[in-house]
Amino acid sequence: MTRETSVHGEWSSRWVFILAAAGSAVGLGNIWKFPYITAEYGGGAFVFIYLICVLMIGLPIMMAEILVGKRGKHSPINTLKIVTAETKQSKFWQIIGWMGTFCGFLILSYYSVIGGWTMAYVVKVGSGMFSHIDMLHDKAMIVSQVSGVFNQLMANPQELILWHTIFMMLTMTVIVGGVQGGLEKAILYMMPSLFIVLFILVGYAMSTEKFAEGIAFMFKINFSALLFSDCVDGYCKFNGQGILAAMGQTFFSLSIGMGAIMAYGAYLPKHVSITQAATIVVLSDTLVAILAGIIIFPIAFSNGLEVNQGPSLVFNTLPIAFGHMPYGTLFGALFFILLVLAAWTSSISILEPPVAWMVETGRFTRFSATLVCGILSWALGLLTIFSFNILSDFKPLSQFAMFKEATLFDLIDFLTSNILLPLGGILIAVFVAWFLPKALLLEELQMKANHWVYRAWYFTLRYITPVGVGLIFLKSIGILA
Ligand code: TRP
Repeated sequence: MTRETSVHGEWSSRWVFILAAAGSAVGLGNIWKFPYITAEYGGGAFVFIYLICVLMIGLPIMMAEILVGKRGKHSPINTLKIVTAETKQSKFWQIIGWMGTFCGFLILSYYSVIGGWTMAYVVKVGSGMFSHIDMLHDKAMIVSQVSGVFNQLMANPQELILWHTIFMMLTMTVIVGGVQGGLEKAILYMMPSLFIVLFILVGYAMSTEKFAEGIAFMFKINFSALLFSDCVDGYCKFNGQGILAAMGQTFFSLSIGMGAIMAYGAYLPKHVSITQAATIVVLSDTLVAILAGIIIFPIAFSNGLEVNQGPSLVFNTLPIAFGHMPYGTLFGALFFILLVLAAWTSSISILEPPVAWMVETGRFTRFSATLVCGILSWALGLLTIFSFNILSDFKPLSQFAMFKEATLFDLIDFLTSNILLPLGGILIAVFVAWFLPKALLLEELQMKANHWVYRAWYFTLRYITPVGVGLIFLKSIGILA
């Protein structure tokens, strides 16, 4: 039943796949989310755990996902059907495809909203809204003006809905045309430009007075901030929330656990090194996240900004830098345009799996499938929008200590990043490393059984990854109880 090529087309070369996968991975997760959750869990120790998770959980699972996709050559749902049938494994594993697709709807719903914020900031920064702050000499006043702009945006559901709609339509447009054609050129220019702009911003961050402090915050490992977040009178209770968050961020940032990378793997030509592709994607994704932190923390500290402010962090930090820089208006607009592009190439990969599946059922064209999925996710996105204004006081699970302050957006984010993606990841790891025949793995990886890379990957995926994810899970259930 295995096919030579996918019905949805194929990447024109190995580099296009690498670019597409990197485009999926690098996005809001790196520049918007990574800095604020790093701050939430106290800095260095979080970064340290994150890096360990990337290596021990992220990289092996990414390889496994690409491998399964390459074998099945269909949407995740059908890929799992095909691969379980081919290897005579239980139908149970098909849950990976279904759960991932469901999870994708949830992620896309809020991803598009935040993508909308970045679009709004292209206009705000580009229209010179922050250029006057250089004239103000009082730091507190600058901070309050910049955050005023953000708060105003959050308080305006109409404006948020407008941007969310535009972002979702952009995503749908590429999906309708098929991911191969549209993505290739966009990412080819976006990635290098994004790196250049980030390096220039690192240069700016280095010129701020508290650069060293920002770096220390990110790299000095202070475990008590991560592990003992609820200390009362010097007595600290062990609390694994920070570790759970670091693991969740690994899945989210690398786009693994729901089948997005699996769907892209399905469009791979036969003779491609999965190891090399996954390594390049993981390295570039991690580099962008670290650069974002190196930029944001020094700027925040130098301006007396609270770093533990949640999702607003990047929007309240960078405009200050753009306000002070020469050509800041132009440069700031360019930065947010690139961030929109990065978010766009990520959201495309979240929408592809359900659309590919619907097309495969034979009952939908690409156009109608995209319309159905896009509209559904768009509607769900309204819950996130309202979490920042009319429903900001709605805390549905406030009876649980750890969700006391959680809005609908926080809950959707927690459910997807910290529960569904890791669960999907554990299932993929166990399915591939315990249930697929070795010959199949070696064939797809194009490797020999005694190659050290294969052996290291296999061992990690078989033992370390599932046990690691499992332990972190159990710990967090402990927190809930
Ligand atoms: N990784 C992307 C980011 O960091 C978001 C993303 C794209 C994603 N595809 C995904 C997250 C699939 C989870 C699953 O912004």
